Amino acid sequence: MVRIFSRAINVLWKTLKSIITDHRIMRKKLFSEPLGKDEIFKKLREYSIDDADPLSGRLFTVAFETGLDELKNIAYEAFRAFMDKNMLDFTEFPSAIRMEKDIIDIAISLMNGDEHVVGTYTFGGTESVFLAVKAARDKFILDKGFITLPEIVMPVTAHPCYDKAAEYMGLRVKRVKVDTETYRADIDSVNEAVTENTALIVGSAPNWPFGTIDPIKELAEIALEKNIWLHVDACVGGFILPFMKKLGENIPDFDFKIEGVSSISLDPHKYAYSPIGSSVVLFRKEFYKMFSQYANLKWPGYPIVNPAVLSSRSEGPLAAAWAVLHFLGEKGYIELANKIIAARNKICSGLKETGYRVMGDPTVIVAFTSEKVNLFKLSDEMVKKGWYFLAQRGISEMGIPPSIHLTITPVHESIVDSMLKDLEECTSELQKIPPSDIEGVVESLGLIMSLITPGEMDISTLSKLLKEAEEYLEIYGPKLLEAFGLDKGLPREMALINQVFNSLPPNITELLVNYIVIQLFKRGV
Ligand SMILES: Cc1ncc(COP(=O)(O)O)c(C=O)c1O
Repeated sequence: MVRIFSRAINVLWKTLKSIITDHRIMRKKLFSEPLGKDEIFKKLREYSIDDADPLSGRLFTVAFETGLDELKNIAYEAFRAFMDKNMLDFTEFPSAIRMEKDIIDIAISLMNGDEHVVGTYTFGGTESVFLAVKAARDKFILDKGFITLPEIVMPVTAHPCYDKAAEYMGLRVKRVKVDTETYRADIDSVNEAVTENTALIVGSAPNWPFGTIDPIKELAEIALEKNIWLHVDACVGGFILPFMKKLGENIPDFDFKIEGVSSISLDPHKYAYSPIGSSVVLFRKEFYKMFSQYANLKWPGYPIVNPAVLSSRSEGPLAAAWAVLHFLGEKGYIELANKIIAARNKICSGLKETGYRVMGDPTVIVAFTSEKVNLFKLSDEMVKKGWYFLAQRGISEMGIPPSIHLTITPVHESIVDSMLKDLEECTSELQKIPPSDIEGVVESLGLIMSLITPGEMDISTLSKLLKEAEEYLEIYGPKLLEAFGLDKGLPREMALINQVFNSLPPNITELLVNYIVIQLFKRGV
């Protein structure tokens, strides 16, 4: 067996030489004397001193902000009023059933569901997707009547939570190519990938990397013809696309109006602007939801009936989501959608004027690329000016170049001009700087590593790789952290790290990032 991991890391290591210093780690114990309130909040302020400010409008990823102070206050109050109540026992707290029913009903009406559609409130898109994957898997196995390895077929742009669900629940994922002009699922590739083992097809409305909407109608035709579950991932779009459509935007149908759609996920904690901890999964039929729930009456304790993955859950996020949906109403959501459209249009024009290529037909997410500007460096330069962009690696084998992702939210409408001005400045500065030697080295490094690493690994190769990685990282892991500058905490500049990760084969990078994250949380920053 070729020692894949150590050979790959050796090459990496030789490229990024560094010296070993001191790797002692500080461990904390519970304080013997309690801290007073002032001291607690002083410490918490210190801990967050270098956090980005989600309310500032300077984040173009992971923060869905309206800029409405009253909305925030109502959400905080509702959260606080219900945070001590546990959704686990909804017979003790019937408010959980009442609030969940309202939120699910609203989601069903937005997704054009009929009286047979039912749903579950979860704490996030990933949890909703887990429930849909579980239901599709169980229905598939029961329909078959024997155990086999069920498969998920999805465009490469689908969120990694499907791979995660597949890893947790024993399915195999086939990621297929997208059209490289439109960045939408390539229907022929989906058709080719589907086999008798396909338990689930996924389409996004829209996908996260490019904000484009997959052709759900065409995916549904395949699903119907072959009797396969189709899940529509509207985690991003479910609470915004219906309002954009009302405002005259060209949004194709993607919901239960289309026969063949089996389930849909949509997240209030994205474009419904509720605090994090809020998602919904809808099923076309009650019996589909049966496959997603969990009941257990085999133990000597209380009867367990969990509609979601988690068992104990605070009612805080549920109450906050209920409050935000009712505070905004349809009128509020339409006003906010209007702001997003205005910001997005200005951003797209500004990007084109600055020489960038906008990828596909964006909705609420805009992705752009460039052959002239190093986008990883651009992201670093914008962070220095206080703007948070998301660098994306692309997949060269599928003709998808590296790009920058921008999630557009209502708060951006008022700051677009200053962001575009800074973007123009950073772009012209970066164009003056020639590529550094290290960029070329990293590129060749990626090439060598791709050559010595198999793209697809069978279970025995993977098992050997993991054993090797454990031995190797034990000895050389700390050196690697130093080489990346991660031994001293989080680096300000990520371009080189992004570049290295972009060049390495994913199965090596995944091991490395897992190692790095374990170390960051163990050591602290
Ligand atoms: C399309 C899509 N699906 C699912 C998810 C997972 O959502 P969460 O982060 O709430 O688990 C995301 C997250 O960004 C997403 O963009």
